[in-house]
This record gives sequence, C-alpha cells and structure tokens, in this order.
Amino acid sequence: KEKMITGITPSGEMTLGNYLGAIKRCVEFQDEYDLYVFIANLHAITIPQNKEILRKNTKEIAALYFACGLDPQKSTVFLQSDVLEHAQLGWILNTQSSIGELSRMTQFKDKSQKTKAKTKDYIPAGLFTYPTLMAADILMYDAKYVPVGIDQKQHVELTRDIAIRVNNKYSEVFKIPEPLISENKIKIMDLQDPSKKMSKSSTNPKAIIYMLDPPKVIAAKIKAAITDSENLIKYDPKHKPGVSNLMMIYAILKNITIKQAEKHWTGKNYKDLKDDVTEVLIQTLEPIQTRYQQLYNSKDVEQWLEQAATKARLEAHKKLNKVQNALGLNYNR
Ligand code: TYM
Repeated sequence: KEKMITGITPSGEMTLGNYLGAIKRCVEFQDEYDLYVFIANLHAITIPQNKEILRKNTKEIAALYFACGLDPQKSTVFLQSDVLEHAQLGWILNTQSSIGELSRMTQFKDKSQKTKAKTKDYIPAGLFTYPTLMAADILMYDAKYVPVGIDQKQHVELTRDIAIRVNNKYSEVFKIPEPLISENKIKIMDLQDPSKKMSKSSTNPKAIIYMLDPPKVIAAKIKAAITDSENLIKYDPKHKPGVSNLMMIYAILKNITIKQAEKHWTGKNYKDLKDDVTEVLIQTLEPIQTRYQQLYNSKDVEQWLEQAATKARLEAHKKLNKVQNALGLNYNR
C-alpha cells in the first residue's frame, strides 16, 4: 500500500473546511492506503498560543479525528510532538532551503501580516520556517500522497523541491510526494466574506461552521450567510462566491457533482438552498458529534494516540538515521 499523510494544526477549533478539505477524504482513503494523520501542534505554536486552549484544541481534534471515522486499527493517528524526530528533521531541512523560497509562501505572507498586527511588534521565526517542518512531516514516512485543501498545495510543492534537492545533493533518501487535491478543488469560503477561505483563526465566529456547532447554531449561521441579490442558484465562484460556496458544501456532503446540485435547485430560491444546506450539514455533523461526546473523555483516544506514536517513532527513527548518514551527521560510519 502507498502511504498518505496529512495533518491539522490545533490553532483553533476544527472547521467544516478542515473536514471537507482533508478529513472526509482521508476517511474514504483509509482502506486503500496506509494513512498517517497527525495533530500538528508544533505548527500551532508558530503563532502565540495559550497553553490551556492549545491543550483543549489538541484534545478536541484528536477525538474528532476518530469521531469523523478515522479507524485506529487501520490508520496511524498521532500527535506530532510525540515523535521528536519531526523537529530534528525539520532543522535539517531548514539548512537545505532558502530564505528566498520560504519568502514566496503565500501563507507566510498572509499570516505574518495578521500576526504582526496581533503581537504588535514581531513575526515569530517559526512562522517563516513552518514549511520546512511540514516538509519533515511528509518526507519522514515516505508518503506518496498528501491529501490537503488547495490552500496547502504550495507547501507540498516546496516539500517536493526540497526532497529533490537533497536527493540530488547527497543520496536518494526521500520519496517525492504529491499533493492530492480533490477534483473540485475544494476551498470552503468564509460565510460572511466569501472572498476569503473559512479559517479557524478567523475573528468572526459567525463566518465559520465548527464541527462541534449545535444544530441551532448551524441553522443560524447558514441563514445569515452572505449570498447576493439575484436569487438565482448558479455555480459561479467568481461572480457569486457566497451562493457557490453553499452549493459546494452541499455537493460534497451529498457526494454529487456541482452540475447535479445545480439541477436539483432548478427553479428554486435561496431559501430552499439554505434549507437544504442546513439539513445536510446537521445530518452529517450530528452523528459525528454524538461519537465525539463518547470519545472526548474516554481513555481510548489517549491510548490510540500513544500506540500510533510508538509505531511512527520507529519509522521516524530509521528515516532520520538514514538522512543523518547521508549528510555526514555521525562521527564514524
Ligand atoms: P490547517 O490546519 O490549516 O488545515 C487542515 C486541512 O484542512 C484544509 N483546509 C481547508 N480545505 C478547504 N477549505 C477550507 N476553507 C480549508 N481550511 C483548511 C487544509 O488545506 C488542510 O488540508 N500546515 C497544515 C498542517 C500540516 C500538514 C503537514 C498537512 C502540518 N504538516 C503535513 C499535510 C502534511 C495546516 O496548517 O493545515
């Protein structure tokens, strides 16, 4: 089986964007691939975090992974900081990448602006070297595919560049990964400002569907979602971003194409659209939330994470040794 790896940063609560862009697809892939999924807590601390909130978000995402259907018997689901080798390989890859290429990362450009505003005076260095740690996460396990939303594609492409560079310069230590972006290039947009992506770090909670939102809250958020004044249900992200976003959410959750969704709403109005989206969201999220409640305080999650980390550590240790050998990071060999 080919390997596949992905992660979510616990810098906030898990959103519908995270689920549709990454986790839902992982659940569908886990029989066919050797799947690794982790909680990227080392990435979370690239922006200032309150430690209690970080812990809570970490615990929440862990329980949600399993509640969404990741199966601890099939997939390796772990906490990034439990596998120390990630940081070590991340350091090594820092030395193999350039300030120029890291400066071109659009996420860095966006986040550094926001973080600067928040911290008033500084941009953490970790925010800049974030992608090299992400490259370490991926290259550590010889992953062939990296299922991510389109917003993370650039980071996976940088990972490829770094891997190819190291392989050429030293020896073939890394497998070259590929981003796995869904066919319809899923990018779930902010409900209040559909020109930007739905992001867990957004300051307007009305704009985001969280995986743990109660049905009433979901209904209210969808009802208040920005559309346009045409009252015409048509998929056109450029001119009708709000409506198109709702259509996309519906189509993915129903496992139908956008064309089929469009047909479904022929002759209908925005109220129908919103009612349908609300209904399918509640249908999908309620059972996940029920499982989540059962898992959140059970010892099972902790045990599953620990078992997976033990397995991941063994592999990471081997890979790191290989890389260290390739670079001459040992006294005698
Ligand atoms: P993060 O936590 O921002 O997002 C987790 C996953 O959700 C996807 N995603 C979205 N997809 C569609 N629409 C949206 N609005 C939306 N928002 C987020 C993201 O594309 C991602 O797949 N750097 C990563 C975490 C990471 C990682 C890795 C991922 C660290 N190391 C190695 C893959 C492989 C991040 O912060 O994702």
